[in-house]
Amino acid sequence: MYCRALLVAVLTLGSPASALWPAPKQSSTGNGTLFIDQTVQVTYNGEQVRWIPYTSPHDYPGFPDGADFAETRVDNQQISYTAGYVPPSGPHFDSKHIVQAGLSRTFGAIFQQGFVPWMLRARGSDFEPALGGKRIQTLQIVQTQHDTDKTFKPQNGAVNESYALDVDSKGHATLVAPSSTGILRGLETFSQLFFQHSSGTSWYTQLAPVSIRDEPKYPYRGILLDVSRHWFEVSDIKHTIDALAMNKMNVLHLHATDTQSWPLEIPALPLLAEKGAYHKGLSYSPSDLASIQEYGVYRGVQVIIEIDMPGHVGIEQAYPGLSNAYAVNPWQWYCAQPPCGSLKLNDTNVEKFLDTLFEDLLPRLSPYSAYFHTGGDEYKANNSLLDPALKTNDQKILQPMLQKFLDHTHNKVRELGLVPMVWEEMILDWNATLGKDVVAQTWLGGGAIQKLAQLGHKVIDSSNEFYYLDCGRGEFMDFANGAAFENNYPFLDWCDPTKNWKLIYSHEPTDGVSSEFQKNVVGGELAVWTETIDTTSLDTIIWPRAGAAAEIWWSGRVDEATGTNRSQLEARPRLTEQRERMLARGIRGAPITQLWCTQVDVHDCEAGNY
Ligand SMILES: *[C@@H]1O[C@H](CO)[C@@H](O)[C@H](O)[C@H]1NC(C)=O
Ligand SMILES: *[C@@H]1O[C@H](CO)[C@@H](O)[C@H](O)[C@H]1NC(C)=O
Ligand SMILES: *[C@@H]1O[C@H](CO)[C@@H](O)[C@H](O)[C@H]1NC(C)=O
Ligand SMILES: *[C@@H]1O[C@H](CO)[C@@H](O)[C@H](O)[C@H]1NC(C)=O
Ligand SMILES: *[C@@H]1O[C@H](CO)[C@@H](O)[C@H](O)[C@H]1NC(C)=O
Ligand SMILES: *[C@@H]1O[C@H](CO)[C@@H](O)[C@H](O)[C@H]1NC(C)=O
Repeated sequence: MYCRALLVAVLTLGSPASALWPAPKQSSTGNGTLFIDQTVQVTYNGEQVRWIPYTSPHDYPGFPDGADFAETRVDNQQISYTAGYVPPSGPHFDSKHIVQAGLSRTFGAIFQQGFVPWMLRARGSDFEPALGGKRIQTLQIVQTQHDTDKTFKPQNGAVNESYALDVDSKGHATLVAPSSTGILRGLETFSQLFFQHSSGTSWYTQLAPVSIRDEPKYPYRGILLDVSRHWFEVSDIKHTIDALAMNKMNVLHLHATDTQSWPLEIPALPLLAEKGAYHKGLSYSPSDLASIQEYGVYRGVQVIIEIDMPGHVGIEQAYPGLSNAYAVNPWQWYCAQPPCGSLKLNDTNVEKFLDTLFEDLLPRLSPYSAYFHTGGDEYKANNSLLDPALKTNDQKILQPMLQKFLDHTHNKVRELGLVPMVWEEMILDWNATLGKDVVAQTWLGGGAIQKLAQLGHKVIDSSNEFYYLDCGRGEFMDFANGAAFENNYPFLDWCDPTKNWKLIYSHEPTDGVSSEFQKNVVGGELAVWTETIDTTSLDTIIWPRAGAAAEIWWSGRVDEATGTNRSQLEARPRLTEQRERMLARGIRGAPITQLWCTQVDVHDCEAGNY
């Protein structure tokens, strides 16, 4: 029976083979078939782990009722029933709980959210193995080092995400990693080995034996989600965290406030959200925020909060007198989009306001996050023209005041145990001298990364030329008939064109950075600015494009095995497969090619050079 299964596998492997996204650092796979079912025996550090990927123990006839059960809940969302332990709640994390929850999700993904890969195989072909072959009997998980608090809220590189995964042809699998985060990454890879059989009750891989040694190239691999231009439900945010983990990404940066709305509830400053949310209820309570961050920790995704300042601040209605230029006209003199607003410089009331804000918010963030982002983009000197105490836009006068503002805010962030992050302009345009601990995020492109890395900052690449996912869909501001209409036709947005997956895939954060400073480039972050994005389009905007960056950040642009740049031809079938996998798991990413191309040899859809 096994021989027949193997033969079928061999005959059908002409179609796009495998499978894994992002590509592992080193892997070798065979062409043997192994099935997997719910009898697989799992151990974690030698202890048996019982797991059930069903929503209730009563759904599973083979499992006895009784004392062994502990319901695993993360943020009141039921993940599964696992046996033998009661999960901790709140901001204290336990490796075993994290691994068990990860394991339950892995088996849920295989057994409940699998898919039949007809779209990845030749039309009409008999691509499935015959049922009844060998199956995976054991999965032995070994964590070689103890997790620490830093595992769950790592600074760049502080957690080792590597893992080794082996599946032998007899059906024994081992997953070894130094951290629970590495185990989560390895479980994601494990889940990607299996397809659902069209019988509906069998699952198989055709890649046995498997041997993978894997670790990321860059420690920081994220997405920025702007929850100010549009409101997103907590469930949308958690859904995006799930999708990040599927691509081995590890940061969700929430651009939490801007001039348009302030959806973050700050109990010590209640008017911020009361006046600042788009509508009553469209705000994040402290427990919402904690639940989002906790959800991230369970998936190896750090949630970093940004309060943008001194520009991009809309607090005038809540706490009047602390900011300039809110809702002014013409807005173009003071900001990049209405309604403007920026904190006053050289103002002790602003410092007091920020102290109150930070003392409320940051202690709530620090159990889950090493960083706090203080914004700093697009700050215009003209704002201080409207400040009755300053009435100047002279940058030479304003610069020392801005420096003082940054020193104050960053010292407060440090005092409260977090590491400050800023947008590039504070350093490159305003010449602020910031501590070397401050992580700089670039978005303007050009040589900014090199300059910041050279100054000794850790740098995150969010170049709008590659990583802005909102671009290329048209300008959201309106143009009156006449000159405005004529001059702006056909109404492109400022960062047109669309950054398609191939463009994203062509770029690496260290591009153009001299080799001695490359170590300061810690990774990248795709930006999802949401002027024209809400829950209806969120998935299609982000996925699977963000996966293209995720692979470069995890594995590098150059494939170490061949020493050449990764190829679109090699990547496209795998990214297509990743999209199908994500679709099956509820992430509604957009197609990247037509179905015909996914079923034929990749060279049949090669454009050539003409
Ligand atoms: C399957 O693997 C075996 C062993 O490595 C090899 O001899 C055989 O050629 C492979 N078949 C295909 C179709 O790749
Ligand atoms: C991560 O752990 C693996 C396995 O222990 C080790 O080989 C590797 O060097 C570590 N990576 C880093 C960056 O320390
Ligand atoms: C600053 O404001 C003045 C009007 O007070 C305007 O003429 C000028 O263009 C503005 N500068 C910028 C950079 O928008
Ligand atoms: C900044 O504030 C201090 C204290 O209020 C004041 O003495 C000083 O004149 C202010 N600086 C400017 C340039 O307005
Ligand atoms: C920053 O430094 C550059 C180069 O010395 C200078 O041109 C620019 O005016 C300075 N900007 C500010 C805000 O001081
Ligand atoms: C990879 O592609 C870039 C252009 O995107 C090129 O500059 C570079 O030389 C290529 N590297 C290799 C190893 O082929």
